[in-house]
Amino acid sequence: MRIDVVSIFPEYLAPLELSLIGKARQDGLLDLRVHDLREFTTDRHRTVDDTPYGGGAGMVMKPEPWAQALTAVAAERPAEAGKPVLIVPSPAGERFTQATAHQLAEEDQLVFACGRYEGIDERVLEWAADHFTVRPMSLGDYVLNGGEVAVLAMVEAIGRLLPGVVGNPESLVEESHSDGLLEYPVYTKPSSWRDRDVPAVLLSGNHGKIAQWRRHEQYRRTAERRPDLLAEFDAGKLPRADRTAFADLGYDVVDGRLKQRPDA
Ligand code: ADE
Repeated sequence: MRIDVVSIFPEYLAPLELSLIGKARQDGLLDLRVHDLREFTTDRHRTVDDTPYGGGAGMVMKPEPWAQALTAVAAERPAEAGKPVLIVPSPAGERFTQATAHQLAEEDQLVFACGRYEGIDERVLEWAADHFTVRPMSLGDYVLNGGEVAVLAMVEAIGRLLPGVVGNPESLVEESHSDGLLEYPVYTKPSSWRDRDVPAVLLSGNHGKIAQWRRHEQYRRTAERRPDLLAEFDAGKLPRADRTAFADLGYDVVDGRLKQRPDA
């Protein structure tokens, strides 16, 4: 996969040289290039921002440097390859989830446009739609100072799904959000530590019992920390023991969906 990131702080993306993503780049699994937006300015001060029309606090990123930068990135792509995806990190974007990461991991090229200040002149996104599939994306309901930290998170989430990046692909299967639930708790040696014992079932060697215990721990954790996820959970084909586990947590299965009992 090819990834291009445009930013006024190229150094901000340096962590993408480390760990699994850095290794993936060295191994040629990921061709990641960072571009300095200021290289696409034409004035002496390399200006990238200006005051907002209509007034208000803060500055807005000027359209022309963005058009120059994105045109240069698009020009490197073979004409027959079709439009690449342009991701614009923004708290005003659609929510980036594990499902989005899986979807984007199927693309051959992703371009990230890191806004700063109050954002990028809206006309850039309209203009860019002729050359890219434009997707404003938010990490969550909070505000960062710019898109760079969001790009670090999204590139890591997407990059680790590319074939060969994570050594043991099994580890991608049983992790939080892979099945719409939070992950079960994990333990390692010693089996007793500071008067705390690892749950006995995990030492039993009974794989069926262990799998069931882990599933039920996923339910318990998700109900406690992220009950919003349970509303989306497909409870249609749950074994009886799992329905009982949910009943103990205060949830009944109604038409294949989990419904919290009013008294729970
Ligand atoms: N830029 C600023 N805040 C952001 C957020 N929450 N998600 C993605 N990009 C952002």
